Amino acid sequence: MDTPVKGVNLGVAPVTYGTGDRPPRGDYGRARSDYTCEQDWSAYTAADHDTYRRLYARQTRQLPGLACDEFIAAVQQLGAPDRIPRFDDVSERLLKATGWQIVGVPGLIPEEAFFKLLSERRFPVTDWIRTPEEFHYVVEPDVFHDLFGHVPLLFDPMFADYMQAYGAGGLKASRLDACELLARLYWYTVEFGLIATPQGLRAYGAGILSSAGELRHSVTSPEPVRLGFDLERIMRSRYRIDTYQANYFVIESFGQLFEATAPDFTPIYRRVRETIAAQGEIEPGTVLAGERRFAPNPAAA
Ligand code: PHE
Ligand code: FE
Repeated sequence: MDTPVKGVNLGVAPVTYGTGDRPPRGDYGRARSDYTCEQDWSAYTAADHDTYRRLYARQTRQLPGLACDEFIAAVQQLGAPDRIPRFDDVSERLLKATGWQIVGVPGLIPEEAFFKLLSERRFPVTDWIRTPEEFHYVVEPDVFHDLFGHVPLLFDPMFADYMQAYGAGGLKASRLDACELLARLYWYTVEFGLIATPQGLRAYGAGILSSAGELRHSVTSPEPVRLGFDLERIMRSRYRIDTYQANYFVIESFGQLFEATAPDFTPIYRRVRETIAAQGEIEPGTVLAGERRFAPNPAAA
């Protein structure tokens, strides 16, 4: 049997970290070799659009005081809140703002295909929407998570550059067998990042911003551990995909994030591997000696 080419669509679902026994639900047979597919907009039912409308309303109601200003300013760029947007319309606005585009995908795609798209300033958006039964929680990313959670910050020039750099860094990490370390950076920034603002902590991570309950929890609850952004600390930190996060990392600005991740990661991966070999990985919710916790944002509680 031939060895499958990594990251090229062969009509079967990809294997990814951290997923369970259930196979991904997307139909990979209709995707192109780069895993992108047409958004079949006319195939959405009235119930699909209604699910999107209710999700959008539920989330936008919660944004003031909890989401960062850059996100709030850009969210209306997604277009009419009462139906699933056409990806081409969003792309047109996004292209003008930061040179990014969004492309449809059938669901989760293999890492290398994902990295390649990001490195080309193309953000993959799952085109199906959750069922009404999954209104509050869906295991896999759907169009609401991908679009509402991720796309607004692609309108921010600095964050947009970070995402492209991440994609290029991912292609490099694939060659260095370091994808798992790099995935932790994505998780603790792009998905679950918090940012310190003059008005207190706010959320910028897509996993938080698209979640019914975690948005308020991450910003205001006294429970979770919130630590300052530290690249090597993050690369040692494991995460759970099925509960609210037990810890978050806080950046000062998107500029700080961009600069802290600009150096060549090759020696950093090596160092982190040595640290892990000597001291182990770090479990969620751990505070190490000398680490300072950020207080929750009481103003937003
Ligand atoms: N600087 C990283 C490298 O050399 C690439 C990267 C940039 C990774 C931004 C993540 C985020 O590998
Ligand atoms: Fe996501």
